[in-house]
Amino acid sequence: MLDKINRQVHLLSRPQAMPALSNFEIRTTSVPSLKENEILVHSLYLSIDPYMRGRMAGRPFSHPPFELNACLIGKVIGTIVASNNIRFKKGELVRGRLDWADYSIVTDDQIEKITPYEDITLPTWLGVLGSPGMTAYFGILELGQPKAGETVVVTSAAGAVGSIVGQIAKIKGCKVIGITGSDTKVEYLTQQLHFDMALNYKKPNFAEDLKHCCDKGIDIYFDNVGGTITDLAMLHLNKFSRIVLCGQISTYNSEGPDVGLRHFRTLILKSATVKGLVVWDFKDRFEEAKIQLIQWMREGRLQSRENIIEGLDNAPKAFIDLFNGENIGKQLVKIS
Ligand SMILES: NC(=O)c1ccc[n+]([C@@H]2O[C@H](COP(=O)([O-])OP(=O)(O)OC[C@H]3O[C@@H](n4cnc5c(N)ncnc54)[C@H](OP(=O)(O)O)[C@@H]3O)[C@@H](O)[C@H]2O)c1
Repeated sequence: MLDKINRQVHLLSRPQAMPALSNFEIRTTSVPSLKENEILVHSLYLSIDPYMRGRMAGRPFSHPPFELNACLIGKVIGTIVASNNIRFKKGELVRGRLDWADYSIVTDDQIEKITPYEDITLPTWLGVLGSPGMTAYFGILELGQPKAGETVVVTSAAGAVGSIVGQIAKIKGCKVIGITGSDTKVEYLTQQLHFDMALNYKKPNFAEDLKHCCDKGIDIYFDNVGGTITDLAMLHLNKFSRIVLCGQISTYNSEGPDVGLRHFRTLILKSATVKGLVVWDFKDRFEEAKIQLIQWMREGRLQSRENIIEGLDNAPKAFIDLFNGENIGKQLVKIS
């Protein structure tokens, strides 16, 4: 037994509709001694991700459901505090799918080393250089195929994936319209990220505003949310438009049947292409994306932003806040 107390975030019950704090519990255990080849990682930052909602519900997805009364698992950056493995040394920084906890015991196939750069902050490795950056990069460039002068509409535009999608589309010379959930986020997108336009979908005149902004139609619709926002965007598709289906967060807390995309007739009339995105399909090319994303950041053309909440105890709240739209940029928890 190592002389360390470990707090873990457990899933107590499966959320019904909106997740609640009562679905989670912080439990305290001690850290057992390391066996051969095992590595002890102290968590520094937890990534808080919408896809975890499906795993909490027990729905089949790209990963198996979370078990009840067990520690949640997500992307974590940490530092090695003890190691019985010759490939990993004490003090090294690593990233992996680890426990939502102060400490995780892992084997070397569960973690990868992070080479720190002076000008790249640690949280960036879970944001622009993590899954959101990879999702945005391959989603907009490979599935969206943007051309200069085209109109790109992206939803959840101030979030981790959406904010990077819009910035890459700007780099490629597109007109970018962001759809988001507050006036503060509208200002962030237009003033800080230089999107051409941004709209608050919670405003009563949203449908009219969208029609006005899309006076030349939509060439690429990058969808993170689904539901009624997507229904409205479908009305403005151009001939040969591309729809990137990245996420459907507006339906993740829905208990009813999945209503899905309804505008098949429009898709035929517009000769449109709909492509589903699974970021891990591109894992062999993550290094290529990393190099390009770092270059854009260094050139000042791509901004990284994280919404950092302090303390492991606040991880359940940070997760719930995703569905309240509290985050601008990548939602993270810093472990004190
Ligand atoms: N396909 C893939 O491989 C892949 C990989 C990563 C992520 N994703 C998906 O990409 C999407 C974005 O993920 P992210 O990590 O970047 O999260 P995020 O956008 O940083 O955070 C979630 C945001 O969703 C918005 N939202 C919440 N409930 C909503 C609703 N009912 N209607 C409309 N918007 C709502 C909120 O912003 P507002 O203030 O704008 O409402 C909230 O801030 C998610 O759907 C996720 O599942 C897919």
